[in-house]
Amino acid sequence: MRTDPPPHRPFEAFQEFLLSCKLQWTRNLYPEVAQRYRAAAEAAPAKPKTVEDVEKLIAGDTTYRYFAWFERHLQKMKYSGRYGLANHYGAHRDELAPMIEATNNERLVIPPDFVPPAYYPAIDIHQHPGGVHGDSVAGMVYERGARTTTPLLDKHGDLHQRFTRIAMERLGKQPKRIVDMGCGFGKSTRPFYSSSRDTEVVGVDLAAPCVKLAAHTAAEDQARNVQFRQGDAADTKLPAGNADLVTSTMMLHEMPVSHIEKVLHEAHRLLAPGGWSIHLDFLAGDDPFNKFIHYGHSARNNEPFMPPLDQMDLAAAHRRAGFDKVEITRFEEMTGALSPENKAWRFPWVVIAARKAA
Ligand SMILES: C[S@@+](CC[C@H](N)C(=O)[O-])C[C@H]1O[C@@H](n2cnc3c(N)ncnc32)[C@H](O)[C@@H]1O
Repeated sequence: MRTDPPPHRPFEAFQEFLLSCKLQWTRNLYPEVAQRYRAAAEAAPAKPKTVEDVEKLIAGDTTYRYFAWFERHLQKMKYSGRYGLANHYGAHRDELAPMIEATNNERLVIPPDFVPPAYYPAIDIHQHPGGVHGDSVAGMVYERGARTTTPLLDKHGDLHQRFTRIAMERLGKQPKRIVDMGCGFGKSTRPFYSSSRDTEVVGVDLAAPCVKLAAHTAAEDQARNVQFRQGDAADTKLPAGNADLVTSTMMLHEMPVSHIEKVLHEAHRLLAPGGWSIHLDFLAGDDPFNKFIHYGHSARNNEPFMPPLDQMDLAAAHRRAGFDKVEITRFEEMTGALSPENKAWRFPWVVIAARKAA
């Protein structure tokens, strides 16, 4: 059943225009900034080593300032204003919200009086007014917004399939139970529950509007092997030692380091001996320019926990949670993304995998 509002030509045209601008930003403006930075770095008396060194060289550059302005304001225009997503979906709230208020949906668990951790409602993440939790149509707004977050990818679909394949290969066997932490509206959970109907999958997310949409989609898929729960990944209330795989996609960078520590402990608790904890997220690597761009994105997209994740010692945090080793590998979100030929802007994707001792 449709969860988009009826087509509205001015809205569609405006969003198409923003997407064209974002593509221009990704493919042309970013390489121009990188090129200008390299020229400035070569001419500098000393090689830039830190984010601050990079900032001194490029922050006043006009092309960089265009780049930063467009990053902030294209996203703002996507969500806010007359033809923004929030207004478009909000205008149809009364017809859209009941579609996902599936009280008889056995795939959905919404605990009464659930209180999210304090960091969560304090931020309008992605510049989404009220965040992905604050409104009955917030899950649908997020779903629509996510279709154009990385415009070179085909609606993110392939990315989630690729990550699912990698996680399954790492596991090396058909899992009996999977927990997808920070499942959002179920995009990351769907390839797992669709890959085998013999695997039980639980998606957990703080945002009720998102898990409701995820459960609605699973009902449309007629999937019987999945459940979506409103809950905190740091304290899922799920049984210990039961899962073969605990996973998350783009969740760790949305929480403070102190919460990541708790999430890793919870992942370890949930896993059966020999099970894997595998997270897809962003680490900018050692290059100070890549860090500068990533931290700038964090500030401009209202995602303040990206730099602390980037700077934390993930291997040590995993050891404190009980894992004995952690493997961090770069993730190619689409064919050719990691090729030196690819000059376009991209997130610094990584797969963070750790095994619980057998
Ligand atoms: C960028 S979204 C990714 C959603 C989904 N995994 C995907 O790939 O489409 C991050 C999600 O993490 C959720 N989240 C943030 N902190 C969380 C926590 N402590 N426990 C559970 N979910 C959390 C947010 O509500 C949001 O839906």
